[in-house]
Amino acid sequence: MSTASISRRRFAQLLGASAAYAAGKPALSLAREPIVPIATGSVVRLSSNENPFGPSARALRAITEAFELACRYPDDEADMLIEALAQTDGVQSDQILLGAGSGEILKICATAFTGRSEGTLVVADPTFEAILGHASRRGAEVVKVPLTSSFSHDLPKMAAAAKGGLIYVCNPNNPTASLTPRNEVREFISRTPRATAILVDEAYHHYVDSPDYESVVPLIRDHPNLIVARTFSKIYGMAGMRCGYCIAQPATMERLRPHQLSDSVNIMALVAARASLGDPEQLAHGRRLNNETRLFVTGELDSLGYRTIPSQANFIMADLKRPVVPIIKTMKDRKVQVGRLFPALPNHMRATIGKKAEMEAFLSAFRAATA
Ligand SMILES: Cc1ncc(COP(=O)(O)O)c(C=O)c1O
Repeated sequence: MSTASISRRRFAQLLGASAAYAAGKPALSLAREPIVPIATGSVVRLSSNENPFGPSARALRAITEAFELACRYPDDEADMLIEALAQTDGVQSDQILLGAGSGEILKICATAFTGRSEGTLVVADPTFEAILGHASRRGAEVVKVPLTSSFSHDLPKMAAAAKGGLIYVCNPNNPTASLTPRNEVREFISRTPRATAILVDEAYHHYVDSPDYESVVPLIRDHPNLIVARTFSKIYGMAGMRCGYCIAQPATMERLRPHQLSDSVNIMALVAARASLGDPEQLAHGRRLNNETRLFVTGELDSLGYRTIPSQANFIMADLKRPVVPIIKTMKDRKVQVGRLFPALPNHMRATIGKKAEMEAFLSAFRAATA
């Protein structure tokens, strides 16, 4: 439904309805400043790399306007988002597949390309682990290749370990927030045999400002085995809405589509995602606040003697020079939730960059836990 198809009065009623629905919670604000607090109750949540500033004001308005569409299946809205993404990313609409978060995309890729007969899954260690479980449940061998000493993917070793199947490259990498340099990624993609699929997860793409990085979306044109995953959960602030997508050549899409659940992305997420794409402020604002706050926190940690891996994302990984598990627990007792243990880096702590006040709470809990 367009804004034109509802009266101003009706629009005001819908806004009111959303406020009433919030039952006791603050009315839905369309202001630019903090909309969705990352702190849940009195807990400061820095454990899941969410964007504490929430969705674009345009996205919130689109959701409100779409209330009346909730009784309809979302196919038209899905088509419109796909068109908008195709324009934004410079590809054709038959090269885009939507998912309920990029988590669904990862599952679809593991299902299509890994298994007893399809082949291995090769991943870095540590990396974002969701895809490992999907591949193992299909009976695929999972090979973990340690990151290099500069925390980039060891792509030659990963390529050598692949037996058909799928190689998963997370760039920037979660949990280390580090990059794999663009020249290495290019060379790896050009050398990998086409029988092996490559999934590059660009969940944190919008936060990167290093000249050593590039998105590999433009390489899809020449590489039928390349798939790129993106999400609206990070800089677009929509983790709770569940919307992600991937881009690949049309023939690759045909291998993925049979594993997709039809209409898995709900209509509110679809309209919010499309509205976000039309709001350049969302990206500029997200990057600026993330950079400022990340600089503040890493500076403070540095002055306490703790180094962080140079971060190109909305989280940091700090070397505590001692086991992280007791520190995680003490910080939790002080109502600050940070990332879990990553067994490959047992002395490192991952923390999401929240709002400045949240990072002040983080630092005070951290000082107490490490005293
Ligand atoms: C690298 C990476 N990929 C994918 C995801 C999944 O995100 P979502 O399913 O919310 O799109 C995450 C979430 O933290 C992530 O860090």
